[in-house]
Amino acid sequence: MKILIVGATGTLGSAIVNELKPRHHVITAGRSGGDARVDLKDVDSVRRLYDAIGPVDAVIAAAGSVHFGPLGDTTSAQFAGGLADKLLGQVNLVLEGQHRLNAGGSFTLTSGIIGDAPFRDGTNAATVNGALAGFVRNAAVELPRGLRINLVSPTVLEASLDAYGALFRGHPATPASRAALAYSRSAEGAETGQVFRVGY
Ligand SMILES: NC(=O)c1ccc[n+]([C@@H]2O[C@H](COP(=O)([O-])OP(=O)(O)OC[C@H]3O[C@@H](n4cnc5c(N)ncnc54)[C@H](OP(=O)(O)O)[C@@H]3O)[C@@H](O)[C@H]2O)c1
Repeated sequence: MKILIVGATGTLGSAIVNELKPRHHVITAGRSGGDARVDLKDVDSVRRLYDAIGPVDAVIAAAGSVHFGPLGDTTSAQFAGGLADKLLGQVNLVLEGQHRLNAGGSFTLTSGIIGDAPFRDGTNAATVNGALAGFVRNAAVELPRGLRINLVSPTVLEASLDAYGALFRGHPATPASRAALAYSRSAEGAETGQVFRVGY
């Protein structure tokens, strides 16, 4: 399969590349690294990416930032930033990709544990992750030509504990390589409309 992985240089994305590259034609993309450049927040940039790489069989998104901070201090601009980046960025990949993927292809988006459980400072992340779950559940029945879509929701990755560990006290971390298997299951399997929770 020809597989586009956006966010491929990141902690999660690089593990997904390691999982899929041995048996597929993987095209990596990000804002500053990879085979192709894209900023998911910019729909024109997403269009240019699809134009440049041509039809693909699977699209995987492992990118997206949200705002972490106490709800009481959160501004509307900070909240909107998380929606524009992690939610609408991944949605852009699907809206622009639905007419361009090969028939029977798949999208795999990324959410996370925040929202399935409440976390201090996590309301923006919980909102985005919940919206992604709703988007995927409904898009699965609307996508044309046998296209599939799933969501991977990992707990904190072991490799990210230095950065985020304090947020996730009491929650076991998972290896990025284990999370990567869920992207393989989505892209190489037959399921659609599913949320694959990893490590919790
Ligand atoms: N790490 C964890 O513990 C964990 C747990 C659960 C869920 N997640 C979710 O997994 C996703 C990836 O997390 P991560 O920790 O792997 O992040 P990361 O290490 O910061 O990597 C992010 C990747 O996405 C790319 N990227 C960022 N913004 C982009 C944009 N607007 N357009 C295109 N590419 C963009 C980055 O490359 P450039 O900077 O070059 O663009 C990089 O390749 C996030 O949605 C995160 O919420 C992470």
